[in-house]
Amino acid sequence: MDERVLSDVNEIIGHCVALLQHQSLFHNIEIIQNLESDLTQILGNPGELEQVFTNLMLNATDAMEGRGRITISSASELKAKQVVLTFTDTGPGISPEVREKIFEPFFTTKPVGVGTGLGLSVVYGVIHRHGGSIEVGSTPGPGATFIIRLPLESQAVIPEVADQGFA
Ligand SMILES: Nc1ncnc2c1ncn2[C@@H]1O[C@H](COP(=O)(O)OP(=O)(O)OP(=O)(O)O)[C@@H](O)[C@H]1O
Ligand SMILES: [Mg+2]
Repeated sequence: MDERVLSDVNEIIGHCVALLQHQSLFHNIEIIQNLESDLTQILGNPGELEQVFTNLMLNATDAMEGRGRITISSASELKAKQVVLTFTDTGPGISPEVREKIFEPFFTTKPVGVGTGLGLSVVYGVIHRHGGSIEVGSTPGPGATFIIRLPLESQAVIPEVADQGFA
């Protein structure tokens, strides 16, 4: 169900990291969390957001072939009424050709039977349902960065809240 509650994104990220760090896939991956203390809470679906962060970290691990660093940052932009998250890895980065198709369902560069190419299309859907956006950062050199912007209160949620109030 599409249930949104006031959510602490740092806590959700921390939970994902704690779960993944125990997996052998992540034994040679360093995860750095540059999370803003007192990050503003957002209205979101914690389960869906957990799926987003897990997908990004699994992709990074695949790209780095199990060895490297993932840096996650969070920051509140109160003027823009949003929270900005970045996930950066030390893998080979993303070529312009791949970047163009990266959020399309079934787009994968992995061998048949390894990747379905659905991970980032699910990520895209979740972020957009939250009224947010996701883009691939274009830093020169190796390493990929994904930038997520989530509104503090997504437009989609406001009518639901109002409906309940006047029902
Ligand atoms: N951090 C990253 N660094 C380099 N390439 C990436 C990164 N994340 C995603 N990609 C590229 O984007 C493609 C699509 O990613 P997506 O998560 O949608 O599918 P997948 O990982 O291939 O398969 P699935 O997630 O369904 O198992 C990947 O195959 C890979 O080429
Ligand atoms: Mg994937």
